[in-house]
Amino acid sequence: MAAISLQGISKRYRDHVAVDRLDLDVEAGEFMVLVGPSGCGKSTTLRMIAGLEDISAGRLFIDGRDVTHVEPHKRDIAMVFQSYALYPHMTVYMNMAFGLLRTSRLSRDEVDQRVQDAARRLRITELLQRRPNELSGGQRQRVAIGRALVRQPKVFLFDEPLSNLDAKLRTHMRAELERLHAELGITIVYVTHDQVEAMTLGTRIAVMDGGRLQQVGAPMEVYRRPATRFVASFIGSPEMNFLPVPNGTAAARNWLNQRYGDAALKPGTVLGLRPEELDLAAAPSATMAGPLHWLGVVQRVDRLGAEAYAQIRVGDDDVLVRTPADVALEAAQPILLTPDLSRLRVFDGQTGAALAECP
Ligand SMILES: Nc1ncnc2c1ncn2[C@@H]1O[C@H](COP(=O)(O)OP(=O)(O)OP(=O)(O)O)[C@@H](O)[C@H]1O
Ligand SMILES: [Mg+2]
Repeated sequence: MAAISLQGISKRYRDHVAVDRLDLDVEAGEFMVLVGPSGCGKSTTLRMIAGLEDISAGRLFIDGRDVTHVEPHKRDIAMVFQSYALYPHMTVYMNMAFGLLRTSRLSRDEVDQRVQDAARRLRITELLQRRPNELSGGQRQRVAIGRALVRQPKVFLFDEPLSNLDAKLRTHMRAELERLHAELGITIVYVTHDQVEAMTLGTRIAVMDGGRLQQVGAPMEVYRRPATRFVASFIGSPEMNFLPVPNGTAAARNWLNQRYGDAALKPGTVLGLRPEELDLAAAPSATMAGPLHWLGVVQRVDRLGAEAYAQIRVGDDDVLVRTPADVALEAAQPILLTPDLSRLRVFDGQTGAALAECP
């Protein structure tokens, strides 16, 4: 049985549906990341798991127990927020110990052991006698995590815990969270709108949009085989390119028809290719190209050191292509674009659904 099972969970605020019939199983020990744009229902979902929001419809199970209507403090869950909400007048030690001393039956010694253990794991032992205003942002966030750790809950919920930190500290804390997860084997549900965080932290990621679950899978699986055009554009940076079927070439139509069926020939079909999945060649060799190719004109080239990104105008579209940094390209140069056919994704023009599993 999954550690957490959401079965047809919905949340309605008056006539607004914030979360729409969400089905999601989180396995014990998993690091599940909920990711999606602002307002897509991530925090609402997390708050329903924690019991901080009523569930409008559906059922929620934690460790096999139906907790749909169980009070928050009886769910054996700890939540860490973006704002750390530490008690300003208490020391770090008391911030971590207070909840346990007040609500658990643990002795002072047992509480002390847990606080010392959590502090050691989080490397904040030397800060235990300070107050929150004497700490850096990253240190405060550790204390907030420590306060959750000492409770030894079944499940940890994180809502954008790193978004108040600067980029360098975020990267560092990401590694710390990974380490904690590996060391303790805890079950985590982690909300972020940052797709890089999702890709690097999650054992699986669940992509949401407009209150609906779009896709669940291992990060690279979702990256390689996005189920919808929305997922394809949300996951990956720089974004995937979306190109029309090259007009007028029978070879292109035949090739698409053979692999993806008639649906691929409907007007509006969109082909998805990431910047690293396109090749550039001088335009005159067009006749030598494979079944799919586009003619374009170089707009600009951004050389980033290890690599370069070329922006190519193809009809009305701008296409971004990753190339080696020393590529000989200049603005206004005509160019032939060819795709890595093994990576091609085909999306329905109306629904945005991926037409078939790409290889
Ligand atoms: N108490 C509330 N009353 C009415 N609508 C709400 C309430 N809380 C959230 N919503 C709405 O529900 C939707 C989902 O909100 P939610 O906070 O879950 O988004 P989110 O994915 O966490 O976004 P963000 O990345 O900005 O934190 C939004 O449209 C929001 O305006
Ligand atoms: Mg939120």
